[in-house]
Amino acid sequence: MAMVCLSDFEAYAKKYLPKIAWDFFAAGADECSTRDENILAYKRIRFRPRVLRNVSMIDTRTKLLGTEISFPVGIAPTGFHQLAWPDGEKSTARAANAMNTCYIASTYSTCTLEEISVAAPSGFQWFQLYIHRNRAVSQQLVQRAEALGFRGLVLTADLPYTGKRRDDVRNGFQLPPHMKLKNLEGAFEVCKMIFLDPSVTWNDIYWLQSLTHLPIIIKGILTKEDAELAVRHGVQGIIVSNHGGRQLDGGPATVDALVEVVEAVQGRVEVYLDGGIRKGSDVLKALALGAKCVFIGRPALWGLAYK
Ligand code: FNR
Repeated sequence: MAMVCLSDFEAYAKKYLPKIAWDFFAAGADECSTRDENILAYKRIRFRPRVLRNVSMIDTRTKLLGTEISFPVGIAPTGFHQLAWPDGEKSTARAANAMNTCYIASTYSTCTLEEISVAAPSGFQWFQLYIHRNRAVSQQLVQRAEALGFRGLVLTADLPYTGKRRDDVRNGFQLPPHMKLKNLEGAFEVCKMIFLDPSVTWNDIYWLQSLTHLPIIIKGILTKEDAELAVRHGVQGIIVSNHGGRQLDGGPATVDALVEVVEAVQGRVEVYLDGGIRKGSDVLKALALGAKCVFIGRPALWGLAYK
């Protein structure tokens, strides 16, 4: 069957992935209302189309903090890619490189940062950080990423504790024994999310700035107040994100939160968005509302699962 849209890849992944992996990728927190709202919000936004504008030349290129990408859609950080495909994040890195776009590699990758970097040596990659209770581990990760040529540090701010994803609880979800959170190997005996540091505050941005020259992008901002704080703490970019609805159930759709963030920052930092992007028209809507670029999470995993 011809694959013509992301929903086709979603259906394929649902059919062929082991149920426990599919459920993990699909999960939202609690009743999944924020996860679903991310998608519904785009359907409520309507274009006001203009015509006869000479669209014979279309240039989709843009720049993220000075680096050019071919089109304004990057790959959001998601963990555990080997659940979708044996090569895991190495394949994701190659695919992003082939499309000349940005791949944000997760702390919770099933390949090491070194393997990801070698898989696509000329690729444009950012590293996503969760700050762990053992700060030395986080420091080492940041410095490894910088040394390997990752070009940005994405601090995820919306996961002080992991959201309650009901299907994962029902399934007793855990990584199969042959897969490892390779970036953290050796750091912990058991790699559980409970090692995340819930005491992180805005002051830790200064700590990160003292560790690295990389630009810092903060992911998980949904309000003008936090956008202002992000600017004041000297970050270079903001990703408007609700973690694909996997964390706080009851928060806004990201595209609905975008406008107040864009208005608050007034061009002082770049603003990106993720959550619910499933069609080219969703991208256009987010761009029209002020995002410089969008990122896709689950759709990249569906693509990875496709043979
Ligand atoms: C995520 N997300 C995520 N975010 C992050 O900062 N670090 C991570 O390790 C993960 N892991 C992760 C795993 C899975 C399976 C999903 C679905 C999501 C959140 C991700 O970066 C992004 O915010 C959302 O996925 C965007 O929503 P869509 O595109 O999936 O609708």
